[in-house]
Amino acid sequence: METSFTRKLGIAHPIVQAPMAGGPATPELAAAVSNAGGLGSLGAGYWSPTQIREAIRDVKRRTDRPFAVNLFVPERAGAKATADEIAVMNAHLNTYRARLGIAPNPALPPYAVSFEDQVQVLLEEEVPVFSFTFGIPSAEAIAAMKRRGIVIVGTATTVEEGIQLEAAGVDAVTAQGAEAGGHRGTFLGEAGDALIGTLALVPQLADRVSVPVIASGGIMGGRGLAACLALGASAVQMGTAFLASPESGAHAAHKRLVLSSAEDATAITDAYSGKAARGIRTDFMRDMRGYPGAIPDYPIQNALTRDIRQAAAQADDPSLMSLWAGQGLRLATGQAAADIVRRMVAEAQAAIGKLSGLAGSGEA
Ligand SMILES: Cc1cc2nc3c(=O)[nH]c(=O)nc-3n(C[C@H](O)[C@H](O)[C@H](O)COP(=O)(O)O)c2cc1C
Repeated sequence: METSFTRKLGIAHPIVQAPMAGGPATPELAAAVSNAGGLGSLGAGYWSPTQIREAIRDVKRRTDRPFAVNLFVPERAGAKATADEIAVMNAHLNTYRARLGIAPNPALPPYAVSFEDQVQVLLEEEVPVFSFTFGIPSAEAIAAMKRRGIVIVGTATTVEEGIQLEAAGVDAVTAQGAEAGGHRGTFLGEAGDALIGTLALVPQLADRVSVPVIASGGIMGGRGLAACLALGASAVQMGTAFLASPESGAHAAHKRLVLSSAEDATAITDAYSGKAARGIRTDFMRDMRGYPGAIPDYPIQNALTRDIRQAAAQADDPSLMSLWAGQGLRLATGQAAADIVRRMVAEAQAAIGKLSGLAGSGEA
């Protein structure tokens, strides 16, 4: 299963472990996947420069194979909310704070870490792969990565986004289908208009860009890998499949729900962060539908709900936690990351063999 992507990176298998910011994508997980011949990723979007540097060095101690570090590209204009809008949202959120026994109206930390400072660490540490979502970094940042030989991977949810990413100089494009768990990478137009299924998005994108396409969203095993290679992808990127592995840093309640939920358990919400994301439905998501128009844009809402999510995690109360996950839930396993990679390869080879058999026999 050698592809243009595996050749570019010198890895054995066309399997990328999705960067999962917020805890799941630990150095241990990234290194386990890279050591098994895939490409592990750190989800560094929320981390400070110091945390990013420590995590990168931790991965480097665990593996000498390539790995990726993923960041969130900030919106050029920057999100804004008035003091009144924040007060209105806090008034809603105080109900949950009271339930969790934490202080109302907490002082807001800076909404997000400086992207430029994060990029600087990736450059200094000369990471093998820089992946990103939510936009396109500046031409200077991309040029600086290229000067150091860092492979650059952007995220697209539509063909047009993929075309713009290629024009900006990326080495590969991740096609994020609507099935995907976590935040939508949409940066042109509305996220609600860019919910294209993986089966539809991958071949349309592969026809329009010349860089390798990495399919993501709903891929949980080797059947999905074989299907995506047939669609024109050069690799797959999987998040939910690795969420419940022992190396994942996801909360125990999150892992439990990933392993016990079905394909219809998720929905797309902006209630937690102000940006559309797919996760297992919670009471919090349902309640927040009662306040349409009152949710400030990312990253403001993300900062506003942080204390609630953290207190809920401590109290082991998943009803208020963000439980990002994709639609492939019934296929999730608690296998170790390396075993998931090995199983994927064996299943994909079996699926491809079966299809070759069908082609040979002329059966449909
Ligand atoms: C818990 C979780 C966190 C995620 N965090 C990130 C992230 O930090 N950066 C990113 O580019 N994608 C993130 N994603 C999206 C993944 O890159 C990918 O699109 C998705 O996992 C693919 O769908 P699947 O979950 O069905 O495999 C996240 C997904 C999940 C499930």
